[in-house]
Amino acid sequence: MTDKNIYKPLKFRLDRVVTESPLIKTFFMTPERDFEFKAGQFVEITLDGLGEAPYTPSSSAWVKDKMEVTIMKAGYITGKMHELRGGETLGIRGPFGKGYPIEKFYGKEVIILGGGVGIAPLRCLLLTMLEEAEKFKRIIICLGAKTPDDFIYKEWYSQLARIRNVELLRSVDKADASWQETEGVVTVLLDKLEVDFSKALAVVCGPPIMMKFGTLTLLKKGCTEQNIYLSMEKNMSCGLGKCGHCALGDYFVCKDGPVFTYDQIKDYPDIWI
Ligand SMILES: Cc1cc2nc3c(=O)[nH]c(=O)nc-3n(C[C@H](O)[C@H](O)[C@H](O)COP(=O)(O)OP(=O)(O)OC[C@H]3O[C@@H](n4cnc5c(N)ncnc54)[C@H](O)[C@@H]3O)c2cc1C
Ligand code: FES
Repeated sequence: MTDKNIYKPLKFRLDRVVTESPLIKTFFMTPERDFEFKAGQFVEITLDGLGEAPYTPSSSAWVKDKMEVTIMKAGYITGKMHELRGGETLGIRGPFGKGYPIEKFYGKEVIILGGGVGIAPLRCLLLTMLEEAEKFKRIIICLGAKTPDDFIYKEWYSQLARIRNVELLRSVDKADASWQETEGVVTVLLDKLEVDFSKALAVVCGPPIMMKFGTLTLLKKGCTEQNIYLSMEKNMSCGLGKCGHCALGDYFVCKDGPVFTYDQIKDYPDIWI
């Protein structure tokens, strides 16, 4: 059950930590009691006496007695998270915001476009969708990383590629001798797709520059503004729509997002910052 007192962190035991890439680790946790969230929602993780930061779970929303979060080392708090080894207790507030409206994806071709640590929230969405994979016409996953070494969840991709209505395409900015897939920025993968973009839905998550060019490419190919879902990141404090830190035009990302359709936010000047 979701914690009723949104200000009070729920205790999670950190079971283990897995290194995904040079800067990214996944934290496997067990909550003191079942914890519910929707794919696309986020949580605030508190480190006692040090502070808290927002992250999106990377595990399936169907699983309530475990949770995984994948974190890129970016500064102070994420650096402290990366020092954890397992066995510690973490405080988690949330879940916050609105998730992906997955029911709207039923019967559609869904393009998932992700890069870098942006693959983490998309993994949550995908694992959640794959529990009822037959409800989607096709799930086309286009993922990018700087180099083959920078890909997170390296073991997962061979399983994904075996699912009936799932296609997986990957690219790296800079290939090495072992790389057999595409070389180039992740948006080049969209050129390889045979999809009716005018009817397809697209979900985009990654660094701002990737979100920008991903969105522009999808629009050029015929995707409608209403059918492009973007997961936005803004600096946050309360997570409750009260402090104003995460304002994006008329919206608060923590409360009204972090998932928005492009048509909701396209007129605001600072969406790609
Ligand atoms: C809704 C939401 C979900 C997120 N999910 C994840 C996730 O699943 N995994 C993950 O690794 N990160 C995620 N982030 C980003 C993460 O919260 C920041 O990287 C973290 O707060 C940085 O804290 P720090 O103290 O380590 O870095 P700081 O020392 O505060 O900053 C280091 C650098 O990171 C930048 N930064 C700080 N906060 C953010 C932010 N919110 N968004 C983008 N850049 C930021 C700063 O501008 C600075 O350049 C999410 C952010 C939001 C808003
Ligand atoms: S973080 Fe306080 S209003 Fe969004």
